[in-house]
Amino acid sequence: MILLTGATGYIGSHTWLELLLAGHQVVGIDNFVNSSPVVLKRLEALSGKKLNFIQGDVCDPIVLEALFKKHAIKGVIHFAALKAVGESSAKPILYYENNIGGLINLLQIMQENDCRNFVFSSSACVYGDPEKSPVKEDSDLKPENPYGQTKLMGEQILRDLEASDPRWRVAYLRYFNPIGAHESGLIGEDPMGVPNNLAPLVSRVAAGRMDELNIYGDDWDTPDGTGVRDYIHVVDLANGHVKAIEYIFSGKPSLTVNLGTGVGYSVMDVVRAYEDVVGQPIRCKVIDRRPGDVALYFADPSRAEALLGWKAVRSLKQMCADGWRWQSQNPLGYKS
Ligand SMILES: NC(=O)c1ccc[n+]([C@@H]2O[C@H](COP(=O)([O-])OP(=O)(O)OC[C@H]3O[C@@H](n4cnc5c(N)ncnc54)[C@H](O)[C@@H]3O)[C@@H](O)[C@H]2O)c1
Repeated sequence: MILLTGATGYIGSHTWLELLLAGHQVVGIDNFVNSSPVVLKRLEALSGKKLNFIQGDVCDPIVLEALFKKHAIKGVIHFAALKAVGESSAKPILYYENNIGGLINLLQIMQENDCRNFVFSSSACVYGDPEKSPVKEDSDLKPENPYGQTKLMGEQILRDLEASDPRWRVAYLRYFNPIGAHESGLIGEDPMGVPNNLAPLVSRVAAGRMDELNIYGDDWDTPDGTGVRDYIHVVDLANGHVKAIEYIFSGKPSLTVNLGTGVGYSVMDVVRAYEDVVGQPIRCKVIDRRPGDVALYFADPSRAEALLGWKAVRSLKQMCADGWRWQSQNPLGYKS
């Protein structure tokens, strides 16, 4: 049995489905701080399986202890975290308490229950403003906000734990920018409040839920002047987790890998790809650069390919088409 924390969130829900399709047994936990219980019904419809799920907080030891007593958990994929960069600067204690407190609580209970296989949701944020792209895993680590710090500290805690007990096996997965949705349009990204990321903002403008898209600067040193990032289809990312937990279960050594496509697309590339899919122009307004933004970064994903046999295969067009299907079938997200 694999435990997924943050199981009903954006990446968790897509990973849950891919794990079930690959024949794994899964139990999920989530406190719905940034997701909806409707996900559970959708996943049951997509997988044709009854789900094991418990509503609860990973910071609560009693909940986790009960979960480990009830299920023979062999490994954990830990998604549960708060992830809004701006909010993390405004409320750092909340981020350290939830992301670090939850991780420590979980690791303690895993240790007590003799479970030492772990997949950690890290982030490209740990690189901060990288000196050059493609970014390799051995680049400098210098996160620029409390959220990114929680990811780097999480990695450090796990590395110390591994050093203390070689039975631990950890996959450190550094994600670039997941976008898109499952091709059914039944599950997708549905952040509470105002989204922070480009793709949900573009699709909200396309759907008429927002008037226009703010573009933070068009004078960056990039081919069209707008920022360039490595967007990865969330289903490709989910499949990276299936490969990672299978790798860990096979007893191979811990690994740290970038999960990205290795290709950078600009804000305008994403806007144009959405316009093609939607068939109408998307209103954009160029405003000042945001402090802390960088011109360009994209992954070198070759280590993930070499060690996990994993590679992102879905195109930007497919990311936008699937993202738009989710948005148009669920104009108000899971509340629709
Ligand atoms: N989406 C991205 O761009 C991105 C990039 C890099 C890393 N990550 C990391 O990947 C993981 C998943 O991200 P996501 O995009 O699916 O985010 P998400 O917010 O959609 O999912 C996280 C889930 O965790 C739950 N959660 C948060 N704190 C919890 C707690 N204390 N107890 C139980 N559940 C809790 C939320 O309700 C949510 O369902 C996070 O750790 C995030 O930091 C995300």
